[in-house]
Amino acid sequence: MKKKIGVKISGTGSYFPKKVLTNVDLEKIIDTSDEWISTRTGIKERRVSEINEPTSELAFKASVEALKFANISPKQIDMILVATITPDMLFPSTACFLQAKLNIPPAPAFDLSASCSGFIYGISIAKAFIESGLYKKILLVGVDELTKITDWTDRNTCVLFGDGAGAMILSASYEDDNVLSVFLGADGSYSNLLFLPAGGTFSPATIDTVNKRLHTIKMHGKEVFRAAVPKMVFAAEKALEFSGKKLEDVKLFIPHQANMRIIKAVAKKMGISMDKVFVNIHKTGNVSSATTITALDEAIKTNKLKNGDIVELVAFGGGFTWGAAVIRI
Ligand code: UT7
Repeated sequence: MKKKIGVKISGTGSYFPKKVLTNVDLEKIIDTSDEWISTRTGIKERRVSEINEPTSELAFKASVEALKFANISPKQIDMILVATITPDMLFPSTACFLQAKLNIPPAPAFDLSASCSGFIYGISIAKAFIESGLYKKILLVGVDELTKITDWTDRNTCVLFGDGAGAMILSASYEDDNVLSVFLGADGSYSNLLFLPAGGTFSPATIDTVNKRLHTIKMHGKEVFRAAVPKMVFAAEKALEFSGKKLEDVKLFIPHQANMRIIKAVAKKMGISMDKVFVNIHKTGNVSSATTITALDEAIKTNKLKNGDIVELVAFGGGFTWGAAVIRI
């Protein structure tokens, strides 16, 4: 009988821009306070990319680190997948820009848009391609520069977001099988609660759309919050069930870092103690497609995880989209 192809997680990497924007800095530009932001969200500071530092540049730096960690040359990569909602341009894809920067030989490269759940959607796509036998070494990146689509006059949203990138190399293997399960979902009937109105074909860019700030994120925060908690719990429980593992088998839960109150509510509903939940939102803010992978990379690099540990990632975002994955490090 032919042996099943497994998916090995060969390495991870991450990158955050140098510039730090603290809550105290924000107090100087809008009507807010460190106290409000900290208590309502858990965020203390976020990283902000330079004007000449596009999404593909953060993706490049995170990918270089992941390739080095995995001891894999760019020449060996046979597919590039970038999860992002803030591409360098509408087209070509950020994956193509990344391919050129890394000097990866001709190989399929494309972006996927599933907002904050994007990286988990990407794990599922990479797993399917590897298990089918079509591709052997996939570079998967979760990256966003939300500060470039933020309305800096809207205190309801501008305090929440940051920029960053995380990368993972997934390889075909007959020895390891590190992606135990993935569960995904979406409900487009909620697309009016978290969105960016203009710049696409629905509302092409005009002077009017710029003047009305329609090229920036619009969010109904309370409604998003209300939906996020049950959907994250649902996705996490489904992925756990499909993996055949129990709650106590999971060493670390890595939830999407959008709001500390959401993270705590999800943990409480699932009966997980907070010392098993990874949190870095205080340093990063919400970096959308990049949150779960940058958090996973930090947990690995700071020795919170060792080889063989089981981790569950769970996310929720605009669309609405949601997803969870149970993986072995
Ligand atoms: O990544 C995708 C998923 N995104 C999320 O999961 C985000 C989900 N939503 C949230 O995290 C929260 O809803 C927010 C953090 C966005 C807002 O927290 P909230 O507890 O839902 O606050 P609120 O919107 O109900 O606002 C409460 C008050 C309002 O004042 P009034 O009307 O009660 O006088 C706001 O105007 O807080 C005010 N407010 C602020 N005050 C100081 C809103 N933003 C700020 C601010 N600084 N930055």
